[in-house]
Amino acid sequence: TIPPMVENGSPSEITLDEFEDLAALSKNDDSTVSITVVGASGDLAKKKIFPALFALYYEDCLPKHFTIFGYARSKMTDAELRNMVSKTLTCRIDKRENCSEKMEEFLKRCFYHSGQYDSEEHFIDLDKKLKQHEGSRVSNRLFYLSIPPNIFLDVVKCASKSASSVNGWTRVIVEKPFGRDSESSAALTRGLKQYLVEDQIFRIDHYLGKELVENLSVLRFSNLVFEPLWSRQYIRNVQLIFSEDFGTEGRGGYFDGYGIIRDIMQNHLLQILALFAMETPISLEAEDIRNEKVKVLRSMKPLQLEDVVIGQYKSHTKGGTTYPGYTDDKTVPKDSVTPTFAAAALFINNARWDGVPFLMKAGKALHTKRAEIRVQFRHVPGNLYKGSFGTDLDRATNELVIRVQPDEAIYLKINNKIPGLGMRLDRSNLNLHYAARLFIRSDELDAAWSLFTPLLKELEEKRIAPELYPYGSRGPVGAHYLAAKYNVRWG
Ligand code: NDP
Ligand code: BG6
Repeated sequence: TIPPMVENGSPSEITLDEFEDLAALSKNDDSTVSITVVGASGDLAKKKIFPALFALYYEDCLPKHFTIFGYARSKMTDAELRNMVSKTLTCRIDKRENCSEKMEEFLKRCFYHSGQYDSEEHFIDLDKKLKQHEGSRVSNRLFYLSIPPNIFLDVVKCASKSASSVNGWTRVIVEKPFGRDSESSAALTRGLKQYLVEDQIFRIDHYLGKELVENLSVLRFSNLVFEPLWSRQYIRNVQLIFSEDFGTEGRGGYFDGYGIIRDIMQNHLLQILALFAMETPISLEAEDIRNEKVKVLRSMKPLQLEDVVIGQYKSHTKGGTTYPGYTDDKTVPKDSVTPTFAAAALFINNARWDGVPFLMKAGKALHTKRAEIRVQFRHVPGNLYKGSFGTDLDRATNELVIRVQPDEAIYLKINNKIPGLGMRLDRSNLNLHYAARLFIRSDELDAAWSLFTPLLKELEEKRIAPELYPYGSRGPVGAHYLAAKYNVRWG
C-alpha cells in the first residue's frame, strides 16, 4: 500500500492511479527522486518507512532513478544502515514469494549521512552527496520527517535552504502529531510555510493506508445490502476500538507530552469514524471524499468531559513476570497524569446519525492487540424469538465487525437456528470478500483538533487523574460505565 498523504489546505490531490501514472512518467523521463528519511535511526523509520519504500520498489511503483538517504545524528556507515534496514524488510505483497534479490537491489540504493538537525552545514554536505547520485538528471527531492515534532522546523529550514532541489520539486512528508491542539497545529503550519509552500507539505496518517480502512467505502458503496442500513434507523451504535498489548516501551519521552487522545483518537480513530459516517461522495476523487469527511467532523460537537474516561496502566505481575507501570518508565515523570487509555462517546448531529453513539476506545498495555470497527444493529422489532437465545438477549442483534488488524477481516454476525429439534438460535459469522482499494488524503486537521482541544485543555488544567488499570487488563472499569450510559456493551 502506498502511504496516503494528507495535505493541509491544498486543493491538489493524488490518487493511487495518479501516483502510478507519475511513477510511470518518472520511469520514462530522465528525472531522479532522492528520498531522505530524516530520523533514519529511529523506530518509525525502521519499522514502517523503509519497509514501505521497499514495498513500493517491489511493486514497481518507484521511479527508475531513485536514491534513498537515511539522515540522523547517530553515527552509521552505509553498510550499517543497510544491515539495520534489512532486518525489517519483508515480502509484504506475497509472503510466499522469495524477494531476496529485490531486497539486495533495493538496499544497494540506500545510503546514510550523519548530521545535526539544525546544521545548515550538515545539510550542505548531504546536498553534495545527493548531487553525486543525481548526476545531471532533473532531481526531485522528498524529505520524510521521521523525527519528534519539536525539530520539524529546524529540519525544514535547513533542508529548504541548503538541500532543496534546484531543478525539480522538493516535498516534505510530516508525521503526526500535527501539533498538540488547535493553536499549536496552526502555529506549526505557519512555521512550515515560512520555508515551504502549501503544496510541498504532506501530512500522513498511516491508518488511512490500512487495507480495511481503504476498503471501508468499498464495503459501503459497492454493496447494496449495506448502504440502506447505514443510519440511525438500523444502527444502534458504532465502536472504534484500538488496543495494544504493550506499553510505551521506549517511547515514554514522546508519549508523555501527548497521551493516547492525541496519539490515536484525534487522528487514526477520528479519520476512520469520518470515513465510516460520511455521505456518498460525488466521486472517488480524494477531494470529493475529503469534502464529505469534513462535513461529518463539522457536524460533531466538541467532546465533553462527562463523555470521556481516561486511564493509565500500572505495574502488574503475572506468571512470575512483572510488567512495568507507565510511570516506571524512566522518561516519564513519576506523577504523570497522562492517559494511556481513553474511552469517549461522540455524536454526529446530522439526519443520518442523530442520537447514535460512536464510542471510541484506545489504550496501551491492554490484554490484546487489535484495531476494529464494530457496528451493532438494532434489535429485531417484536418478540418472536424471545428466550431462544438463552439469557443473553443482546445476541439477538446483528453485528458487523471490520477488523483492521491483526488478521484483517470483515464479518457479519447473523442469527440462525441451531440444527436439530427445537428452536434454539445461534449467531454465526458471514464472512465477506473484499477486493478493490481506495487511496485518500484529507485536510480536516483543524476540524479534528477543534473537537478535542477543549477537552484536552480541561483535562490538563484540572490535572484530572486517570483511573489506573493493570498492565495486560481490559482497561479501566469506567469505560464500561460510559458505554452503559448509552446502553452499549463493548464488543
Ligand atoms: P524516535 O524517538 O525513534 O526518533 C527518531 C529519531 O529522531 C531518533 O532515532 C533520533 O535519532 C532522533 N531524535 C529522537 N529524539 C530526539 C530529540 N529529542 N532531539 C533530536 N533528535 C531526536 O521516534 P519515532 O521513530 O518513533 O517517531 C518519529 C516520528 O514519527 C515522531 O514524530 C512520532 O510521533 C511519529 N510517529 C511514530 C510512529 C511509530 O510507530 N513509532 C507512528 C506514527 C508516527 P538520532 O539520535 O540518531 O538523531
Ligand atoms: C502511532 C502511534 O501513530 O500508531 C503509536 O504513535 C502506535 O503509539 C502506532 O503504537 C500504532 O500503529 P500500528 O500501525 O502499529 O497499529
